[in-house]
Parts: sequence; C-alpha cells; structure tokens
Amino acid sequence: MTKADAGDYIDKYHIIACGLRNSRLKAKQVAVAELYMALLPLDIIYLSNGPLSDEKGFFCFMVEKSRIEAAKKILHGIGYCNVFHLIVFEETEEKRTWKGRRFSVREFVRQDADLYASQSPHNRVFALAIPGENPTHVVKGYRGDGSLTGRRALPVEDCRCLINLAMPQKIETLLDPFAGAGGIVYAAGFINPAIRTTTIDIDPILSPGLEMYGAMHYVCAAAEARFCEKFDAIVTEVPFAEESDSSVLEGLRNVLGYLKRDGRVSIMSSLRQHEVLHKFICDSGLHVYCSYAVNRKGTDAAIIAATGDLHLEVAYCHGNVPHSGRPGNSSRIRDRVMGYS
Ligand SMILES: C[S@@+](CC[C@H](N)C(=O)[O-])C[C@H]1O[C@@H](n2cnc3c(N)ncnc32)[C@H](O)[C@@H]1O
Repeated sequence: MTKADAGDYIDKYHIIACGLRNSRLKAKQVAVAELYMALLPLDIIYLSNGPLSDEKGFFCFMVEKSRIEAAKKILHGIGYCNVFHLIVFEETEEKRTWKGRRFSVREFVRQDADLYASQSPHNRVFALAIPGENPTHVVKGYRGDGSLTGRRALPVEDCRCLINLAMPQKIETLLDPFAGAGGIVYAAGFINPAIRTTTIDIDPILSPGLEMYGAMHYVCAAAEARFCEKFDAIVTEVPFAEESDSSVLEGLRNVLGYLKRDGRVSIMSSLRQHEVLHKFICDSGLHVYCSYAVNRKGTDAAIIAATGDLHLEVAYCHGNVPHSGRPGNSSRIRDRVMGYS
C-alpha cells in the first residue's frame, strides 16, 4: 500500500490494532499468525507496517467494513491478544499520522478478564476417576499429578492460540491425542461450539473430566488409537518429558494418518522437542506455516502449525505473515507454486 492508494483502502476497510496480552508480549510473531489464521475466512489483510506498529505489543490487520461484526465475535476468542482498537481517520487533535493522515484510536474489543479467569485451569472444574473410588471426584484447579509425565493444565492463552492456528471457523472435527486436563477441548468449545472434539489420553483417571467437557474420549496410547473417520484438525500439547519422546512421535505418526488432506495440525512441545518435530512434520508431507519458540513463564516451549493443503499454505505466504523463527520449507513451496523462481 502506498500513500497514494491508502485512501481507497481506508474507505473499504477498518484497521484493527491488536494488543498483546502481557504474558505473551515476546511472542508477537505467533500472535500475528494466530490472528491471521483465525480471521482468514474473512479475507483480512495483515499490515506489517500499520499505524501502531512502532508501539510495543501492537500489530495491525485490515478487515472489510461489512465484516467488522463477524470479526468482533472472533476477537473474543483470541489467545495471545486481549485488546483490540479501531484506527479512526477523521479530524482529530492527535498528532499521530499514518500514510500522511491523522488518526485517533478507539477501543473496539476488550476481552472479559473475569471470563478469562473462570476458564483458567486454576478455576475450572474437572472430574477425575480415582482408582478404587466411586463415584468420580469433581475437583477445582486440577493441574496434574506433579510427575514429569503427568503435568497438565495448559494456560488458556496457549489453548486458544493452538485452536486459532488451526482455523477454527473451518473445523467440524478436532482430535487432541494427548488431552490431559482438557484445556484444548475447553477452548475449542468456547471458540466454536460447533466443533466435535475427540480426545485420547493414556491415563484413565481423566475420562470423566474430558467427557464432561464434551469430548468423545478414548483411553489408550495415541499410537494404538483407531478411528473410522478423518479429522479437520489435530491440536495438542505433547508431554514434554524426555522419556515420552518416542511415544510422542509414534502417537503423532499414527494420528496424522487420520488428518484430512486439507486439515491443519498445531502442536505445542518443549523447545527441546521442536527441532525433531519440525523435521517429522515436514517428512510427513505437511507444509509448516508457523514455527516459533514461546516462553511460557520460564518454560521453554514451541509451537508448530502445518497443513497438507497447498492452497492454504500459499494464502498464508501471500499474506506476508511471518512464518518461522527457524528455517522451514514454506518459502520453497511458495516459490514453486507462485512461480516466483
Ligand atoms: C502435557 S499433557 C497435556 C495437557 C493438556 N494440554 C492440558 O491442558 O491439560 C500430556 C498428556 O499426554 C498424556 N500421555 C502421555 N503419553 C501418552 C501416550 N503415549 N498416548 C496418549 N497420551 C499420553 C499424559 O497422560 C498427559 O495427560
């Protein structure tokens, strides 16, 4: 966009400045990818140099004015950003300018902090089947058994982010093969209640809680699961413990066989596991569109999102959205498909 044609865009589009949540201020590129995938069905445009982009923790998108109400609904379910402003170009005392035009900022959406807190693992209610005890225990604030392999309860912003990276408005069926205390199932239901979620976890005590959150749940190792349907999305946080590494890869290899050709996969892992996962995903024939490290309050984690759908991959590349904090295969694919080289 140039100074000369900016007026045409401003007539047709609203510019939304998205503000990162304090806890994810350092994960701006993941936040951009999350917003882009969540709003892609609305044909949004990412502005790499938007009006507030010189302010810490902000980036901008353009949405057609006729689609602003649809965008508003989606913004309430975003993970890494929690406040959204409209950029208003009109007579104003403000000194700030963009493309030679003065603008002011008007709050558009501020996520409900109480609602967010009620969804956090500290406050959620979960049901456990304690061996030898009957009936099931309903507990508040369940965070796993404290063992290396039994740590659970992913923060709400990460659960939402993983779902949004998989384009939730286009998901009918979702599988979480390492479901734990159900943060991802819960977030999926909040973001798009029409999503039908299937979960797997090897630990039998989780069954009543995951079923309570609405999942069709199976107790088994992810590598052993068999389904008679394919899924639009596989979204999960794998166990971070080193001793789980081989079963994580075996499990993912099995469940990726149940991903639809145009489906999306988004996975949170430890940073240590990320390199191997990245290679594994590429070797599975998927195209990586988001691959970044995320610091989760001192826990070094990483997110990878990929698809078998070349058209989606190209749309992503076309949007000029940052791809990867490390070399992936995406630019090569874009070059091949778009005839850039
Ligand atoms: C990091 S936790 C998932 C936490 C979840 N995202 C949450 O919000 O609570 C990983 C889960 O994988 C389960 N798990 C470990 N190995 C498994 C395997 N081979 N197949 C299926 N589940 C497994 C563990 O029991 C644990 O609940």
